[in-house]
Amino acid sequence: MADTLTVTDNRTGKTYELAVTDGTINAMDLRKIRVSDDDFGLMAYDPAYKNTASCRSAITYIDGDQGILHYRGYPIEQLAVQSSFLECSYLLLKGELPSPSAMARFRHEVTHHTLVHENTRELLDGFRYDAHPMGMLISTIAALSTFYPEAQNVTNEENRWLQIVRLIGKVPTLAAYAYRHRRGLPYVYPDNELSYSGNFLNMLFKMTERTYVPNPAAERALDVLFILHADHEQNCSTSAMRGVGSSRVDPYSALAAACAALYGPLHGGANEAVVRMLNEIGTKDNIPSFVKRAKEDKNVRLMGFGHRVYKNYDPRAKVIKELAYDVFEALGKNPLIDIAVELERIALEDDYFIQKKLYPNVDFYSGLIYQALGLPMDMYPVLFAIGRTVGWLAQWEEMLRDPEQAISRPRQIYTGPAIRDYVPLSER
Ligand code: CMC
Repeated sequence: MADTLTVTDNRTGKTYELAVTDGTINAMDLRKIRVSDDDFGLMAYDPAYKNTASCRSAITYIDGDQGILHYRGYPIEQLAVQSSFLECSYLLLKGELPSPSAMARFRHEVTHHTLVHENTRELLDGFRYDAHPMGMLISTIAALSTFYPEAQNVTNEENRWLQIVRLIGKVPTLAAYAYRHRRGLPYVYPDNELSYSGNFLNMLFKMTERTYVPNPAAERALDVLFILHADHEQNCSTSAMRGVGSSRVDPYSALAAACAALYGPLHGGANEAVVRMLNEIGTKDNIPSFVKRAKEDKNVRLMGFGHRVYKNYDPRAKVIKELAYDVFEALGKNPLIDIAVELERIALEDDYFIQKKLYPNVDFYSGLIYQALGLPMDMYPVLFAIGRTVGWLAQWEEMLRDPEQAISRPRQIYTGPAIRDYVPLSER
């Protein structure tokens, strides 16, 4: 059987044969379907890209019905238990797990790009004392482009790699600085003796001690959370990274845009919203009435539930739920976990959630761990951004290497008024 699609245009009676490749038709083939020579040709209308593949990608594989997530072919469950965030970063960026020497080189490169220009401190000092750390992170990432003007040369592979390791190294520093600004605490310089996650904890929490020693359970939990958030194929922020990057702007500007996309409550802001929701619910007795509201009121959602792609349990949520108990054992239990577990149980038995295939997503339990680590709620999306920085960069690199890609530019169906004459203000 040929891999084609036969379409008959009932407006003209003409029949067309369109190639089907990888279960997909090429949208440009639709343009051959016209009613007359001056017709623009057929387009696909797809608001929110619900059924449009915008690229070919070899980075992340998701099977939303089965609840499967792979990075470069490796199951997320194996990476979460056996790998480290920096090793996964190398894997996502380069396509293969590193050899021991390549790993040591990569670790050295990232570790030696963790310092940020001292002017960044002044930039942060300009923010109000209660500025949201995501706003500060987005701004300081964008500001990095002014410190590294050579980053504009996005056609040079070596130059791109330098910016990639700089960003992986510096985003945690900017994130920690934003947190310290918010707390009115002095900024802490990176400690190159510590691991990626251990150093991040150092930059967040070091007080007057000479050397900060991270809690191993907190360090490992953070590393696993970074792994789980590292990439998730063509989501809203990654599409922003690719879309903005397709104009050939420098990666700092594109990454700031991706970070801004992540800030929204329907995306990376959901982890914060989950903890707020659990606090609002307060006790297990209030769960049924909250679930009822989430079903009946279109403005109320069960945060941390549902996903555009997963129509099954999000595999990341499974790992995080287990991780939460490990963290609580080491650092003390977060009492909200009992409400979360009960809420999950009730929702998963409820017809509304069953029929709409709404399951816990990555954000449902992650906030509870961040809270146990002593982080304030508005830092949660920042933590997501640190992990996802690697995915954004891997996707940006792949986009720039792809000869089929060009500047991102969707079409529209114009629904405004037909041509009309301007009426001067005095005559209106
Ligand atoms: N609670 C209650 N109802 C829901 C929920 C929810 N969490 N999620 C979806 N629905 C309903 C929705 O009202 C709609 O019902 P109907 O068909 O009757 O209008 C139906 O389910 C389909 O929802 P949708 O909004 O059309 O689905 P989507 O694929 O556009 O949205 C989503 C996916 C993640 C934005 C959505 O499920 C949601 O808002 N969830 C809560 C926010 C959240 O947890 N976001 C984190 C996503 S995972 C990490 C990330 O991407 O950053």
